[in-house]
Amino acid sequence: MEHLSFFYGEKRALEDISIKIQPNMVTAFIGPSGCGKSTFLRTLNRMNDIIPGARVDGASASTATTSTAPAWTWSRCAARSGWCQKSNPFPKSIFENAAYGIRINRMASSKSELAGRVEESLKQAALWTR
Ligand SMILES: Nc1ncnc2c1ncn2[C@@H]1O[C@H](COP(=O)(O)OP(=O)(O)O)[C@@H](O)[C@H]1O
Ligand SMILES: [Mg+2]
Repeated sequence: MEHLSFFYGEKRALEDISIKIQPNMVTAFIGPSGCGKSTFLRTLNRMNDIIPGARVDGASASTATTSTAPAWTWSRCAARSGWCQKSNPFPKSIFENAAYGIRINRMASSKSELAGRVEESLKQAALWTR
């Protein structure tokens, strides 16, 4: 991020944030309610784009790329970088919820591979019982 500011209409929610985020490390954002943690995360995967009147100044790796390269559609950004505030499953089966990300990212080449990855994911989350 370089000099990132974010506005909800007239109201500035993020002010001139510059930060390097290290690859393959866990990074934590800590602060009081309303300080802008969620806004910051939504800026990274462009979930703020759908809020009327919202606007970004400065650049994040993803917003810079997306604003200059038309190939970087909103949906492509969102597929690469997801987040959830409250887990909220889609109104589909558990299998289809677990399969969703694998499908949209074309990460399985066959039905059996998809089923295997869903099973593996559910086991890792302790959600698989026989
Ligand atoms: N959709 C929105 N429209 C207008 N203001 C918002 C919206 N979402 C958040 N805000 C405001 O932006 C500020 C940062 O909020 P938020 O990013 O949700 O903080 P946090 O996640 O740290 O609690 C708060 O003042 C909040 O009221
Ligand atoms: Mg929040």
